[in-house]
Amino acid sequence: MFANLFTPFALNNTLSLHNRILMAPLTRCMADHDLVPTQAMVDYYARRADAGLIISEATIIRPDGQGYPNTPGLYTAAQIVGWRRVTDAVHQHGGKIFAQLWHTGRVAHPHFFAASGSSDVLAPSAVAVIGSVPRMRELTYQVPKAVTHEDIASLIADYAKAAANAIEAGFDGVEIHGANGYLIDQFLHFDSNHRVDEYGQTPEHMARFPLAVVDAVALQIGSDRTALRVSPGAYFNMVGDSRDRAVFDYLLAQLESRSLAYLHIGIFDDAMTFDYLGGSATAYVRSHYSKTLVGVGGYSPESGSAAIAANKFDLLAIGRPFIANPDYVEKVRHGQALLTYSDDMLANLV
Ligand code: FNR
Repeated sequence: MFANLFTPFALNNTLSLHNRILMAPLTRCMADHDLVPTQAMVDYYARRADAGLIISEATIIRPDGQGYPNTPGLYTAAQIVGWRRVTDAVHQHGGKIFAQLWHTGRVAHPHFFAASGSSDVLAPSAVAVIGSVPRMRELTYQVPKAVTHEDIASLIADYAKAAANAIEAGFDGVEIHGANGYLIDQFLHFDSNHRVDEYGQTPEHMARFPLAVVDAVALQIGSDRTALRVSPGAYFNMVGDSRDRAVFDYLLAQLESRSLAYLHIGIFDDAMTFDYLGGSATAYVRSHYSKTLVGVGGYSPESGSAAIAANKFDLLAIGRPFIANPDYVEKVRHGQALLTYSDDMLANLV
C-alpha cells in the first residue's frame, strides 16, 4: 500500500531516510519544571522511531523564547542530557531525529521566564498579538519590546548555540522554526514587522534576520543538517498582507542558493488558500523553490501518497494522526485502520 511513502529518500550525502513519512513537530508541554525532557518523552519518541525522520516538538533556544508551559529547552547542560536520552532511544530503534529550534517572539510571556532575569518580550516591533496564552487565559499577550541591533546579534548567536547543543545532544540536525507566527515569521510579515531600519520595510530587509539565523546555524553545524520551516500564508498569531508575497519571493530565491536539508511548510490544513499567494502555501513554495520540500496539513495516507505522486512535495509530515497512532508507519504499511485524533489525546503522552 502507498508504495511511494516507503521509498527511501536521501536528503543529501550525509542523511538518508528509510521512508518519506516524517513526524511533524508537536508541542506537548510535558517537559519537567526545568524544561528538561522526561522519561515519558523518551518513550514517546522511541515508539515513533520508524518514521523516516522525527522532528522534535518546538524547543526553546533561551528563556525569553517561552510562550507555553513546560516546553523543553536546549540551553542548559541538564536539557542537553535529557535530550541525549531521547536521541539515543530513537537511534537504538533505527530512527533519525531533528530538533526544532524555537523562539516565540511576541507570543512569549514573562510569566514563564521573568525569574530568569529579563522580563522583556522581544519582537521585531512593539506590536502586540491580540489574545492570551491558550488554557492560561489570565495571561494576556503584552506589547513587546522592538529588538535592538544588540538584541538581534545575541538572538542569532543563541540560535547557533542551540544548534551546537542539539548536535551535542545527539540530534541528526535541526529544523529552524520560522513558521506559525513566531519570532522569525514575525520579521517576514508586515502585520508584525513595522521597522524602518535594515530589518524592515523591504523584502531584502525583512528577510535579513531569518537568513542570518539560517546562515549562523548552517555555519555552526553544516547546511546538510540544517532545515527551515516557513509560513508564507499567515494563519496563526498573524494577519496576512498582500505585500508579504514579495518578502517570500525574495526569501525563497535566497534559500534556493543555500543547500538546506529541506524546507517545510508550516500550516494546519493544506487545503487553505491565500489570495496573495495565488493558492495554497505549498503550491506557491513548490513553484518558487526547486529543492526538497516537506508538505503537511490534514493529510491521510491516501491524500499524502497522491500528493507525492503528483509532485506537490517530496516528503509528507504527519502531525495529529501520529499523536493518535504511535504505530502510524506500521499501520499504514500494512493497510490497517488508524485511530482518529481527538484533542483529549493531548492530556497523555502515549
Ligand atoms: C502542532 N504544530 C506544531 N508546529 C510546529 O512547527 N511546531 C510545534 O511545536 C507544533 N506543535 C503542535 C502541537 C499540536 C498539538 C498540534 C496539533 C500541532 C503543527 C503541526 O506540526 C502540523 O503542521 C499540523 O498539526 C498539521 O498537520 P496534521 O496534524 O494535519 O498532520
